[in-house]
Amino acid sequence: MAVAMALSSSALPCSLLMAALMLLASIAQVQGITRYYDFNVTMANVTRLCATKSIVTVNGQFPGPKLVAREGDRVVIRVTNHAQHNISLHW
Ligand SMILES: *[C@@H]1O[C@H](CO)[C@@H](O)[C@H](O)[C@H]1NC(C)=O
Ligand SMILES: *[C@@H]1O[C@H](CO)[C@@H](O)[C@H](O)[C@H]1NC(C)=O
Ligand SMILES: *[C@@H]1O[C@H](CO)[C@@H](O)[C@H](O)[C@H]1NC(C)=O
Repeated sequence: MAVAMALSSSALPCSLLMAALMLLASIAQVQGITRYYDFNVTMANVTRLCATKSIVTVNGQFPGPKLVAREGDRVVIRVTNHAQHNISLHW
């Protein structure tokens, strides 16, 4: 904001000012936040269409929880496998 104020108070051509503001806006957009997720993988009995079966769940959910991120964000997901089988995660 201080940079934009300094630029606007000097006698710069309008197009140069616009370019500087757009550059600042794009820098602000790329800088994201870090989002942390905890995935506890467990087995759960699920009944569908009168049949019960054991399935792999994330935090007790199947399908797993939704991940939300914006451009430039860093997503850190800590996965703990509590099931007795080896698994792979895809998203
Ligand atoms: C995952 O498990 C750990 C340890 O059991 C617990 O502290 C944490 O709250 C759990 N996280 C979720 C999202 O269920
Ligand atoms: C699922 O059901 C079976 C049979 O009733 C049981 O042995 C097993 O412990 C259950 N698993 C879970 C994760 O609740
Ligand atoms: C899981 O994978 C590890 C490493 O490949 C292997 O040593 C282990 O035997 C596997 N466990 C099961 C239950 O398949």
